[in-house]
Amino acid sequence: MSCPMRGLHDAEVPFLDPYPDDIQAHREELYRQGPITPVELPGGVRAWACTHHAVSKALLNDQRFVKDPEQWADYKNGEVSKDWPYMGVLTWDGINMLGLDGAPHRRMRGLTAHPFSARRIERLRPRIERITDEHLDALEDRASEPLDLKREFSFRVPITVIGELYGVAKEEYDELGDLYARLFFVDTEPGEHLRIYAELHAFFTELVARKKAEPGEHDDFTTDLLKSTEEGEDPLTEAEVIITLLMVMAAGHETTVNLINNVIRALLNHPEQHARLKKGELSWEQVIEETLRYDAPNNAILFRFATEDVSVGGVTINKGDALVTHYGAITKDRAEHGDDPHVFDPARTKGRHITFGYGPHVCPGAPLARMEANIVLSRLFSASPTCAWRCPTRHWRTRPPSSSTASRSSPSCCGPDRPRTRPSPPRPDDRPFPHPRHRKDRDGRSRPVVRPTLQHRPPRLLPMDADPARSGGARADGR
Ligand code: HEM
Repeated sequence: MSCPMRGLHDAEVPFLDPYPDDIQAHREELYRQGPITPVELPGGVRAWACTHHAVSKALLNDQRFVKDPEQWADYKNGEVSKDWPYMGVLTWDGINMLGLDGAPHRRMRGLTAHPFSARRIERLRPRIERITDEHLDALEDRASEPLDLKREFSFRVPITVIGELYGVAKEEYDELGDLYARLFFVDTEPGEHLRIYAELHAFFTELVARKKAEPGEHDDFTTDLLKSTEEGEDPLTEAEVIITLLMVMAAGHETTVNLINNVIRALLNHPEQHARLKKGELSWEQVIEETLRYDAPNNAILFRFATEDVSVGGVTINKGDALVTHYGAITKDRAEHGDDPHVFDPARTKGRHITFGYGPHVCPGAPLARMEANIVLSRLFSASPTCAWRCPTRHWRTRPPSSSTASRSSPSCCGPDRPRTRPSPPRPDDRPFPHPRHRKDRDGRSRPVVRPTLQHRPPRLLPMDADPARSGGARADGR
């Protein structure tokens, strides 16, 4: 346990490492420091980390802690520069729901509630199912190729879902995905996040202008938000619509991608639980909930700031200090989850994770994330029950994120193991399996393409993607 006298600016405090060799061990170590411990972030920035369950719930609901970065003493007195890479996850505009407090925050939650309602989310189910199937069909065509499961599937499905949800043109999905990936990438050049943020702002400004210029009924989130600019006594402004679009995608995309990847990794690393799932002894809901606890997609959320001195958990957090909610460490809390929090046990009944947050900022997208993960994972695993299992997850590479637990790549052999039961939509060059299809070679000659079968599909890996800055290769814990 941490010494009660420990202060934020003591010489030796734990480092909040964005590249831990073993993230589970790192979380455990932080938990053991708890319930509130001073930490150092990259760049020498200091903050308090909340690492136990009960105290985190209390502080997430405590009005003495606010999101407004203007309250941050170390920033105001120049100890933290504007170029600090994590600045990309702070909110400076004063109209962003994620960064608002009190009444202005309640107003924004109220005005944006409709698109997150249970009925509205449920209406997305068939669209998510279709998008997932289309992406699985595309993988089926490349069944013999080694591929990066994250890049080709678990990143693409959520960006397509959210892109469709927003009414963004298909050609723009990649650009958007790339911008967000770079916004949250802690290794992005100093100051680069500000330029990316401006680019995203310009993108959504144009999207809103486009929607307004196209009269007619659109069934999308952007249109829903625009309707809120015309209703009630204190409607949303157009600037608020733009920021909400920017922020919701930031909050909802990367986290969902990470959840999907983390479930895949957890099942690969725990074949006994995978077997129970296949036998029907576990449900997908149980597997997803336990992954949210065992491997929180949002490892740590930055920041809240103390508006007065607060004594809590044996320490005094001074006015102006920054507070990190470390969800990764919180999930190791014995008082909440029992004596075995390090065990991946989807049948666990003790405790409730708070990975979707708690208090006024609790995630409004949780039902969408849960539904999407369920659809995507159940369809992926039923199309390919052993998919990717041949490639050890220690070859998965970490993409060092600012606050989440993203893998940079998940090299896998992931073609479906058997023909899908649902026929793929016909393509002009489709011939019934197993007749060979033909492709043109470099000289323009037609060559038969042999559809792979399980027997002759070797377990190959993608070459590690070029990342000179981080060429250390696989990590011991597979991240
Ligand atoms: C596994 C997936 C997800 C996780 C783990 C997650 C987690 C969280 C957490 C912990 C917060 C609270 C942040 C804080 O207290 O500062 C939050 C807020 C938020 N999330 Fe999610 N989220 C996920 C998916 C989504 C999705 C799919 C959407 C929407 C499409 C979404 C939209 C939001 C929004 C708009 C907020 C801000 C709420 C506010 O400030 O009042 N999230 N999320």
